[in-house]
Amino acid sequence: MGKYNESELVQAAAEARKHAVAPYSRFGVGAALLTKSGKIITGANVESASYGLTCCAERVALFKALTSGHRNFVAVAVIARSKGGPMPCGACRQLLAEYAPRAKVYVADSRALDRVREFTVRELLPAAFRDVPRICD
Ligand code: THU
Repeated sequence: MGKYNESELVQAAAEARKHAVAPYSRFGVGAALLTKSGKIITGANVESASYGLTCCAERVALFKALTSGHRNFVAVAVIARSKGGPMPCGACRQLLAEYAPRAKVYVADSRALDRVREFTVRELLPAAFRDVPRICD
């Protein structure tokens, strides 16, 4: 659980999911990032008629957070109506490894927000590509 409120973060992701724009897949995903200073930044997936342009909830939240000046992330919660919760895709794992390398990742099914699975970014993407300057720790 750590020194922050995990269920508050999960709840924020569930709220964010309500704003998912997913008319093609009908699979709404919500994400919420927690900064070291205690701020929560949320996102939801946005789909395009040109399907490949779709952006996952995790990346929407991360891009919002980064472009609002946040750099230190301690946790991210991801919610969808998915058994056991939605595991972040490979692209999101790469971005998390670059910009939130020490974050805990919580995934939960929107129908059972009290059953949260916990991972580390390193677990989700060991040996990530990082041959570029680091902007986060
Ligand atoms: N999606 C996310 O937002 N996050 C994930 O971790 C997995 C997939 C979205 C992308 C697309 O809008 C929909 O879920 C179906 O793939």
